Amino acid sequence: MIKSKRIISILLLFLIVTIVPYTAFATSECETKQEIDPDKPMIALTFDDGPSTCYTSRILDVLEENNVNATFFVLGTEAEENQDLLARMIENGNEIGNHTLNHQDLTSLTDEEISYQINTTQQIIQNATGTTSQIMRAPYGYIDEDTSQQIDMPVILWSLDTLDWENRDAEIICDTILKNVKDGDIVLMHDIYESTADAAEYVIPELIKRGYQLVTVSELSEYKGISLEDGTTYNNFY
Ligand code: CO
Repeated sequence: MIKSKRIISILLLFLIVTIVPYTAFATSECETKQEIDPDKPMIALTFDDGPSTCYTSRILDVLEENNVNATFFVLGTEAEENQDLLARMIENGNEIGNHTLNHQDLTSLTDEEISYQINTTQQIIQNATGTTSQIMRAPYGYIDEDTSQQIDMPVILWSLDTLDWENRDAEIICDTILKNVKDGDIVLMHDIYESTADAAEYVIPELIKRGYQLVTVSELSEYKGISLEDGTTYNNFY
């Protein structure tokens, strides 16, 4: 009897030391992941042309503080210089899209040049994060049928353009988003301007307050039930 009591005690102790820490860890893991309600409005914020040493980390900070995600369409040349930022994007649950090596108009390039622009960037992303992009965005949004055939990825454009590269004004960027945003939008910004980082710090919590779930492009398509196809162009997920 005493012996069996001892065995039970040892078993209990074993359970406590093995299961309790695991449960605590599992719970905290779940708490850090945003829970998406497919019946509530959701949008994808996208940031192009970076990562930038000066401003991308500010945008990653505000996303992390609010427990939401965005998509970064990176340039190979910038990604090479900021591999730590790419790693942090993925660690925090954001998505990285391929925005080519150095932002040339793909419609003016040969098939070989197009492949080089995309494949070199995939390799840089792979080296920095251990994963490759599943989506791409053509520079300037310039895409035609011949170019699409050379691209083995879904091409993601946008439905809400903040024109942040032109206005360089955080207030205008925020107003443009808040006045026009709707469920299923893909919002275009650039993480290479101070005004865009300023805008992100205001507009991200404000969008959440207004009931929008901020998700990656791939999550948005998935929750809207649209399966992404290579060489097809997407402007929104309404
Ligand atoms: Co661009």
